[in-house]
Amino acid sequence: MKFFLDTADLDEIKEAASWGALAGVTTNPTLYSRIGGKLDDFHNHIARICEIVDGPVSAESVAMTRDEIIRDGRELAKIAPNVVVKIPTMVEGLAACRALSDEGIRVNMTLCFTVPQAILAARAGARYISPFVGRFDDISEDGLSQLGDVVTAIGNYDYTENTVGGEQVEIIAASIRSANHVTQSALMGADIATVPFGVLKKMVQHPLTDRGLESFLKDWEKVANA
Ligand code: G3P
Repeated sequence: MKFFLDTADLDEIKEAASWGALAGVTTNPTLYSRIGGKLDDFHNHIARICEIVDGPVSAESVAMTRDEIIRDGRELAKIAPNVVVKIPTMVEGLAACRALSDEGIRVNMTLCFTVPQAILAARAGARYISPFVGRFDDISEDGLSQLGDVVTAIGNYDYTENTVGGEQVEIIAASIRSANHVTQSALMGADIATVPFGVLKKMVQHPLTDRGLESFLKDWEKVANA
């Protein structure tokens, strides 16, 4: 499984990248607004993220019609070769996904909740599909089981004839709220988990690791002083 950081915060991205396990970044309009992002600085901000991270960096279009999304997507893709255009799973979004993929621009279909949505996204040429786990839980549905269904359903077929460069479509477990969400997503075979920085930090920690480390250091002191 690969890890993407779900943030627009440059300090978080730099810190996570320095840990050596970061494969990419996903942003969305909420995450950009959370860091006080300005409209006219959006493209520059995505460029700054792409300077830190070599892997895919998702930048979302907020346009609502096919042609506007395509226009947006083309501009976003010009920022850096690793930009992935993030598009909501809706009719206009699917149509734009098809057109951008045909032009060789990689697309991440976001706000995906169900198997039929995911299948349509894959058929429309999406390189990445992002089923949201936590937001399903928020409405008292089982987000993890929906994610598992998407992983299985997409894995049952070959979509490479649809994607840019014949690459395999990858499932990004999104709206991840806990380390347990990551565990379960990995067990289900999601290709990628995009996680907030707080969750990434929790993934490293375990009280038994802390306790073990403490006793190793104590015992090593005995060795050093013997
Ligand atoms: O980037 C999309 C997704 O991960 C958002 O998560 O926590 O706002 O539901 P959340």
